[in-house]
Amino acid sequence: MYSRLQCMDCGQEYPVNEVRYACDACGGLLDVLHDWKSLRPQLTRRFFDERLGSLDAPYNSGVWRYKELIYPDAADRDIVSRPEGNTNLYCPRHLAEWAGVKTLYLKHEGENPTGSFKDRGMTGGVTQARILGMQRVACASTGNTSASLASYAAFAGMQCIIFLQNRQIALGKLAQGIAYGAICLQTDGDFDTNLALVREVSERLNIYVLNSVNPFRLEGQKSIIFEVIQQLKWQVPDWIVVPGGNLGNSSAFGKGLKELYDLGLIDRLPRLAVIQAEGASPLYRAYRTGFSDFAAMKAETLATAIKIGNPVSYKRAVRALTWTNGVVDYVTDQQIMDAKALIDAAGIGCEPASACSLAGTRKLVEAGIIRPHETVVGILTGHVLKDPDATIGYHSNTLEDITPAHQNLLRQSAATMDDIVRVLEGDAGRVPA
Ligand code: F0G
Repeated sequence: MYSRLQCMDCGQEYPVNEVRYACDACGGLLDVLHDWKSLRPQLTRRFFDERLGSLDAPYNSGVWRYKELIYPDAADRDIVSRPEGNTNLYCPRHLAEWAGVKTLYLKHEGENPTGSFKDRGMTGGVTQARILGMQRVACASTGNTSASLASYAAFAGMQCIIFLQNRQIALGKLAQGIAYGAICLQTDGDFDTNLALVREVSERLNIYVLNSVNPFRLEGQKSIIFEVIQQLKWQVPDWIVVPGGNLGNSSAFGKGLKELYDLGLIDRLPRLAVIQAEGASPLYRAYRTGFSDFAAMKAETLATAIKIGNPVSYKRAVRALTWTNGVVDYVTDQQIMDAKALIDAAGIGCEPASACSLAGTRKLVEAGIIRPHETVVGILTGHVLKDPDATIGYHSNTLEDITPAHQNLLRQSAATMDDIVRVLEGDAGRVPA
């Protein structure tokens, strides 16, 4: 066996072939550790470059291309892959200018099979569910994790149960859960309550939990970083900017970066910037105290994906920030929606939470933390179609407390040539400079 579980707090180790999400000894979160000593000799840049463009499963996946860094023990026949990853890295010049940096890349994780970065973790987690022989899987979710789990579970022939917060889930995500055949439980608890409930009920009913407490999810999510760096021909950017909610992604980024560095695949670490929504910013508040104080909060934001007040991976995220000399900031819902409108209008598109990456970059540049000559990679975590209500609400100016700075009005015309010409020769007809 190449891998084992280790408690991040007390170091207690456990085998990977048992159902476990926390340390028995101290309750700490678990990491999957791989036997780098045995694996290291084959792990070169060239080794991974040779798999690029592979047509063969599992290496055609942008997760399993890095199998030795994710889950080397997994037998190919057990791998549940759609396949995911291989997402684009855009370099939109005018968005870089708007943010105030010379080079800005946007890694679009909304281009995954179910439209969010969650598929990268889910292929790892559902593969582990299959290896463990689990028949039923479950998660609490703000909508993307559940869409992803519903799809991967159906694909693997497992029963899926998802816990959703009443009325707080974006339409596209709700539709996905239902469409992929999951048992969808809407409760009147918020995400944080639902996560506690799902852990308890899963223990009672022998269901495998696929929230990011599950360390195999985080292993898959590391591949975002691997892929970005490989796409940049192994050149390390100065900054990686990512939205923060339950903090699984930030945690996985820290672990993945540290591993690449320790293996000698990169020669320095980029700095991580985690951006939260103002109304759901417990990590930011803790950061302001030098992480001496953490307090959960009641979360409220239009970016429902990250409406989380008690992030389960808080400690792992702090570790990632320490390793990478990282920073944390917040942006308002107004800043999120305006940045989203710009990303959308650039033809790229994303859901509200994802726009934290661009809005946060601009804020950190204005604060002098990111410098204009530095190279930034922003992660777009979800697809533009996930939350159509937010997009239409913004452009029709019906969102509470938001004044759209980049409104694209829906125009009305009679079905006559005269009226169409009148509209197109009016303000709609102005060709942009
Ligand atoms: N962006 C999107 C689109 C998300 O769906 C999430 C999390 C995040 C960012 C934050 O990532 O939790 O790793 O810090 N969504 C989860 C869900 C919580 O249930 O879909 P994180």
